[in-house]
Amino acid sequence: MTIYLSARNISKKYGDAVALKNVNLDLRQGNILALLGPNGAGKTTFIKILATLLIKTSGTVMVLGHDLDKDEYRIRHLFGYVGQDTDRSAYARLTVRENLHFFGTLRGLDRKTIAAQIDQFTEYFDFEKNLDKLFMHLSGGQKQTVVIIRALLHDPPIIYLDEPTKGLDPIISKKIRTFLHSYVKQKGKTLLLTSHILSEVDEMADEVALIHNGSIEVQGSPETLKEAVGASEFIELKREQISPALYAQIMALPTVECTLERDPDWYSFGLSDVFEGTEVIIRLLRESNTRTQFRHHTVSLEDAFIHHVGQLNSKFEK
Ligand SMILES: Nc1ncnc2c1ncn2[C@@H]1O[C@H](COP(=O)(O)OP(=O)(O)OP(=O)(O)O)[C@@H](O)[C@H]1O
Ligand SMILES: [Mg+2]
Repeated sequence: MTIYLSARNISKKYGDAVALKNVNLDLRQGNILALLGPNGAGKTTFIKILATLLIKTSGTVMVLGHDLDKDEYRIRHLFGYVGQDTDRSAYARLTVRENLHFFGTLRGLDRKTIAAQIDQFTEYFDFEKNLDKLFMHLSGGQKQTVVIIRALLHDPPIIYLDEPTKGLDPIISKKIRTFLHSYVKQKGKTLLLTSHILSEVDEMADEVALIHNGSIEVQGSPETLKEAVGASEFIELKREQISPALYAQIMALPTVECTLERDPDWYSFGLSDVFEGTEVIIRLLRESNTRTQFRHHTVSLEDAFIHHVGQLNSKFEK
């Protein structure tokens, strides 16, 4: 797969505070990469450096053969960017159409091309009815839709989206995800996004990079990150009904591979064989006369995030 962007040893300091430490990342054609990490990890800082809005302290970024330090102007035409602050991403007192024409012109597009692009995107997003409204009169989700359209107007090969579906209702959020996924795959684009909604990352991303205290600590497919949790199927029992003796008995079962701290009210036991494991655990509950609620859970990317960040936090506390 063609590499569209490669970032090497990117570091960023705000005064004395280190926000990024030697970050390496490649963006490939046809690929969706999600940058995950706790609040303050450095995701926005990294995306803003790629989007030429922040100056890195050190490192190199090559974008389709151009060096960010030498060819910033060229590179600006190769990406579309949506930042975290939607409200300030367009002119409040211009209509949606005026905003899109303004930003399209800045990108060097002629009126006809802009109008054709607006038609194509607004039809898909069922957005014609909002085109002549002032940007400031739109809802949060409608504004977000406008800034995503704005970022794609000039059909750039690279797209950076910082929390693109934040604040969107589930229907429009799904529509945007589906659109972006097929846009990247069919048109051979590359997309770098951040999101705290891990179910949508799991659905969209080919690859995930977990950033922690300014460094990429874990990288791989969502499946690889989930595998590290230790089991894919869990049985969960209400904690208050499980005696310490029963807990010890369950933990000693050969089918129990790991536990997961994902809900303070429930124990989560990872099973190597979900049918056999459930059967033996229910037998133990019967024998000890324990009446408890139980449920099954399949490992999620959120579990993987909690697992990895927990491990990293304890590594850095030592
Ligand atoms: N303009 C700034 N001046 C000083 N420090 C900053 C500035 N912007 C960000 N930081 C700091 O840099 C670190 C990384 O911030 P950044 O916004 O990149 O995090 P993030 O991963 O995007 O977090 P979130 O998930 O909350 O959006 C944080 O410690 C933050 O306080
Ligand atoms: Mg951020």
